[in-house]
Amino acid sequence: MVDYYRRNSLPLEMHKVCIVQKTEIIPVEERVKAIRKAGFNTYRMESKDIFLDMLTDSGVNAMTNDQLGAMMTGDDCYAGSKTYFRLADKIKEIFNKDYFLPVHQGRACEHMLALAYVQPKPGSIVPMNFQFGTSVGKIQYCGGDFVICIAEEGLQKQSANPFKGDFDLVKLESVLKQQGGNIAFVRIEAGTNLIGGQPISLDNMLAVSELCRKYGVLSVLDASLLQDNLHFIKTRENAYRDKSIREIVRTMSDAMDIIYFSARKLGFGRGGAIILNDQKEFEHIKSFVASFEGFPTFGGMSVREMEAIRVGLDDTMDEDTISQGPQFIEYLVNELEDAGIPVVTPPGGLGCHIDAMKFVPHIDRRDYPAGALASAIYIASGARGMERGGIDEPWADPDEEPYGSMELVRLAVPRRVYTVSQMNYLIDRLLWLYDNRELIGGLHFETNAPHNFYDALEANSDWPERLAEKFRRDFGDSL
Ligand SMILES: Cc1ncc(COP(=O)(O)O)c(C=O)c1O
Repeated sequence: MVDYYRRNSLPLEMHKVCIVQKTEIIPVEERVKAIRKAGFNTYRMESKDIFLDMLTDSGVNAMTNDQLGAMMTGDDCYAGSKTYFRLADKIKEIFNKDYFLPVHQGRACEHMLALAYVQPKPGSIVPMNFQFGTSVGKIQYCGGDFVICIAEEGLQKQSANPFKGDFDLVKLESVLKQQGGNIAFVRIEAGTNLIGGQPISLDNMLAVSELCRKYGVLSVLDASLLQDNLHFIKTRENAYRDKSIREIVRTMSDAMDIIYFSARKLGFGRGGAIILNDQKEFEHIKSFVASFEGFPTFGGMSVREMEAIRVGLDDTMDEDTISQGPQFIEYLVNELEDAGIPVVTPPGGLGCHIDAMKFVPHIDRRDYPAGALASAIYIASGARGMERGGIDEPWADPDEEPYGSMELVRLAVPRRVYTVSQMNYLIDRLLWLYDNRELIGGLHFETNAPHNFYDALEANSDWPERLAEKFRRDFGDSL
C-alpha cells in the first residue's frame, strides 16, 4: 500500500497484466432471467452471465508468466518425474519438511489423513479451531467426529480482535485431557474459511503445538488459506513484524507434525500436498495416496500444475504478492462499513463478508436472507458471491431444517484477477442496493426437504423484477 498525495490510499496492484480475458456485463433484465434460470442459487449459474466472479478464490487465482512458462517444463512421467523432485525440493526449502505427497486437491489431503488416523480408531475425535465442510466430512465418513475449540470472540461478527481464528487453549486442553487416547489429531486451520477468512496468530499456533506435544497427539496444519494468514501475522502480530515471511513459515512449520494444503489456494495452482518429516507416517499415508489418488510422485495432479505450484510457492514468500488479496478485501470492507453496510470485521482473508440478517432484516430466517441477498447483488451488479447460511448448511436430521449461526454473503477476491476500478464499480452497486434493500424479498426451495446446497429455489414474489425496474429508473441505459 502506498500513500497518495491527493486522496486516501487505495490498494495498488503490484503486477502488470500480460494476458487478459474479455468479460461482459449483461443488461439487468437478462441478469434477472439468468438468476431465475439458476434457481436463485449462484452455484448453478453459468460463467457467461457473470461480470465479476467472486464465488471463491479456489483454483481461480491468476498465474504469472513465470508460472505459465514453468508449466511447459513439466516432466510427464508416471513414476519418478523430475517435476516431483523439483517441487519436493521447493517444499523442503520453504517448509523444512523432508517428505511430500501430492494429491489432486485439498479435500484429498483430508481424505488421506482421515483414512490414516481416524478410520483405525472408530469414534475418535479431531479438535480444531473451526470446521470446514470438506475436512469434517472426511472425518465423519471415516467414523470419527470433531470438536470446535475456537475462542469465543471468533464467532462475533463485528469485532476488533485481529486474530479471531485463535484456539481457546483452555478448551483445547480440557478436550485433550478428557479424550486421552481417543484423539486422532488436532487440526489447525490457518486462516479460518467459514468465519470470514479470519487469521490465527503464530503464538496461538505455537501454543497449540506445545499442547499437542504435552498430550502426545499429532498437530496437523491446514495451510490452504495460509497466504493471507502470513500477511496478517506479519502486519498484526508485533512479535513477528521484523521477521521475513520465510522465517515466519519456518517457525510455524517446525512446530507442526503434518502440514497439508489445497494448492487451488496456496501456491496459485490447482492441486494439493501433504508434507511431513516422519518417515514412518509418510509410508503409512503414502499407501492411501497410491490407492486413491495416483502414483505417489504425481498423486492425481498434472505435472504442469505441479510446476506452476513450485513457482507459485516462491511467489507466496513475497510480501508484495501476498498483501494484494488482504488489501483489496480491507478496501472493500472499509468502504462498505463507512457507508453503513453491515460487514464482518476486522477485514480477514479470502473475501468480504456481508451480514445478510442486518442488510435485509425484514427477511425471515426461513426465507433465506443470505441466498436472497446474493441473488440481489447479482441482479444489481453482475457479481456472483456465495451464500453462507441456511442454504449451505448440511442437514444432520432429515426432518429438521438446520439454520446456521450466521447468514453471510461472501464476495471472494480471487488473487490478481480484478482491479481497483472493478472493486469501485462493485462498491457503487452495493451502495445502491443497500439504499433499495426494502425491495429485496425472500426465497423458498422448489423441492421437498432435505435440501442440498446445490438445489434450486424460487423467489417468494416478483421482487427480482421490481428490483430490476428500479435499477432501470435510476441508471437509465447504463449496464
Ligand atoms: C481451509 C480449507 N481447507 C480445505 C479446503 C479444501 O480444498 P479443496 O477445495 O482444494 O478440496 C478448503 C477449500 O476451500 C479450505 O478453505
